[in-house]
Amino acid sequence: MFYKNFILALVSIGLFASCSTTKDPIEEKVEKLLSRMTLEEKIGQMNQLNSEGAFDDLHERIKRGEVGSVLNEVDPKTLNELQKIAVEETRLGIPILFARDIIHGYKTIFPIPLGQAASWNPKLVEEAGRITAIEATSVGIRWTFAPMIDVSCDSRWGRIAESMGEDPFLSGTMGAAMIKGLQGNDLSDPTSLAACAKHFVGYGATEGGRDYNTTHISNEQLRNTYLVPFKAAVDAGCATFMTSFNEINGVPCSGNPFLTKDILRKEWGFDGVLVSDWSSITEMIIHGYCKDSLEATEKGINAGIDMDMMGEAYISGLKKLIEDGKIKESSVDDAVRNILRLKFRLGLFDNPYININRSSPFYEKAFLEKAKKIAAQSVVLLKNENSVLPLTESVKSIAVIGPLADAAHDQMGTWVFDGEKEHSVTPMQALKDRYGDKVKINYVKTLTHSRDANKSGFGDALAAAKASDVILFFAGEESILSGEARCRADISLPGVQSELLSELKKAGKPIVMIIMAGRPVEIYKELPLVNGLLYAWHPGTMGGLAIAELLFGDIVPSGKLPITYPAMVGQIPIYYNHKNTGRPPLDDSPRINDISPEAPQMSLGNRSYYLDAGDKPLFPFGYGLSYTTFEYKNLKISKSEIGKTEFLTVSCTVTNTGKIKATEVVQLYIRDMYASITRPVKELKDFSRICLDAGETKEVSFTLSPEQLSFWNNDNQFVLEPGDFKVWIATNSADGLEGEFKVIS
Ligand code: BGC
Repeated sequence: MFYKNFILALVSIGLFASCSTTKDPIEEKVEKLLSRMTLEEKIGQMNQLNSEGAFDDLHERIKRGEVGSVLNEVDPKTLNELQKIAVEETRLGIPILFARDIIHGYKTIFPIPLGQAASWNPKLVEEAGRITAIEATSVGIRWTFAPMIDVSCDSRWGRIAESMGEDPFLSGTMGAAMIKGLQGNDLSDPTSLAACAKHFVGYGATEGGRDYNTTHISNEQLRNTYLVPFKAAVDAGCATFMTSFNEINGVPCSGNPFLTKDILRKEWGFDGVLVSDWSSITEMIIHGYCKDSLEATEKGINAGIDMDMMGEAYISGLKKLIEDGKIKESSVDDAVRNILRLKFRLGLFDNPYININRSSPFYEKAFLEKAKKIAAQSVVLLKNENSVLPLTESVKSIAVIGPLADAAHDQMGTWVFDGEKEHSVTPMQALKDRYGDKVKINYVKTLTHSRDANKSGFGDALAAAKASDVILFFAGEESILSGEARCRADISLPGVQSELLSELKKAGKPIVMIIMAGRPVEIYKELPLVNGLLYAWHPGTMGGLAIAELLFGDIVPSGKLPITYPAMVGQIPIYYNHKNTGRPPLDDSPRINDISPEAPQMSLGNRSYYLDAGDKPLFPFGYGLSYTTFEYKNLKISKSEIGKTEFLTVSCTVTNTGKIKATEVVQLYIRDMYASITRPVKELKDFSRICLDAGETKEVSFTLSPEQLSFWNNDNQFVLEPGDFKVWIATNSADGLEGEFKVIS
């Protein structure tokens, strides 16, 4: 016994000794290499250049050691050639890190991120990320600029398509899932793609929904809303971060050490690479924040940005700044350390080349199946009057009409560089192949694309509608109308789609509208004209098959909105987790036509709402119907009072009261009723996807931690304040079983 203990003691001393003295082997390699580098070689590592159109020059520049990363080269042969120069023709042979925007799939295209968020299925988002990485790394790309986790509630902003919606918790959960999928279990695995959480930070708050625009964000909003998903990204081990184009309160995010050094590095302990956005360092001159490129360089490096994307500020200015004593070489060392660390972590030094002879894992059957699955789960059923869906056997003929019915390119959505439309399965194709023997399909595209204003096909469309039992109207936006710099002040259906719908209405047949778009489009006028509405976002390669199977009930809808759906564009910003105000709206507040002509000035309503649009969205956050119904009952809260360190369990039963098996996304919301700063009327804290057979009941239980009940106050402290709370378990943010509890000190 004594002997055993003695040995154990020795072992533990030995272990302790080795823990305290052994350095991480990667850190040792980084230091060793860094110590051999000249200043020029270091600065070269901090420069990222685009491959497109600059090949000859790039060749030379790599040879001169001026390039640490290349973006947008996807030809494996060229990529190997460039790598060979870096590895064999530069003094230290440091490999290049190849990058590309692969936002929602490389070849196999998954739904746009906003659509993926509508699945409320992090597991699937992770799996889609894994497939993306397997396809992209096969050509030599090891770094992608995704996920975009900018919280936004502005559907005018084209980039909302790339986001995970308006909720900080949902965005963080989905972003973390994507990161895990892209990066896999180990960054050194050749199929791992370093992820990049972007854009740090506040980009989604862009004024007026206009891209690149100014933002004003209070500390409270920053901490409680915009930073939340980024913290989740760090916790998920995200390898890189990108600064954003916008300024916050007068300071551009590429020159704001409070955000990037104090919060990201010091508070959160991020040790990955921080890259600028495209020229965002030099754009600080245009912002009016720096007088010239040298000052922009100084501000960028002082903000701890490791790599300059396409701005060439670092390569031209860093050396001079050091010589002039404006910055220390140690700042450059810190940046290069981060870059080398990532290159070592990715195993690039051991495996710099891509095997061009290996077969490409593109569009594999399993990948396409997964793409169909996530497309199906991302579609949200928003209206289903008299159960027009699913289409039953009594439907013998369908009219398929509209510009998005057979739009192989557009259904892929924004930010698709590599996916090929030839691989898209469109709704029209899927309806024909899968259901063509059951129903007669009368297809009249009518409009060539979403903005087409030519009404000459309206007659044929109406004839097809009259000759059919049900009209399927495929409306929406082309892919190019959302994404970066694709903002719209009018977010209604482009072109004459609305007129086409009115024309179809004349047929007197049930109409199901299927919308493919990069944002919620304004449809309050069209909604009453249709009996059913499926919101499909831009659903990707397999979107058509997913939609066809949803229409015919082979798949039951389960998607829920990751964003509040505005009724009118003028309501924006509209979001479920708003503050209450001192005068919250009442349901019976007078509306515009309740006011008599020449009415005297009076305290009419005097509530926070619009005379014309009221205060309600068209559909609330978290909303989505199914082909069955669910009943929520028996809310139980484990305690009526908890101490500040205690956990609380909240549960209820959910019953599938319909006749078919289906999935429901059960949501948990809270409200902190009063606090030292006002808190939102509801906040999503958790969710769970449950599958229920017809008639089945399940208990759904959530645990609320003290952390989930806390918030950042105006003194920059994360606090849980004693007081009253409300809690809901709900099918969407405007509904649910309500209970209450108290936190006591
Ligand atoms: C975008 C980034 C993107 C980068 C590289 C920029 O314009 O804002 O999101 O990753 O370009 O393509």
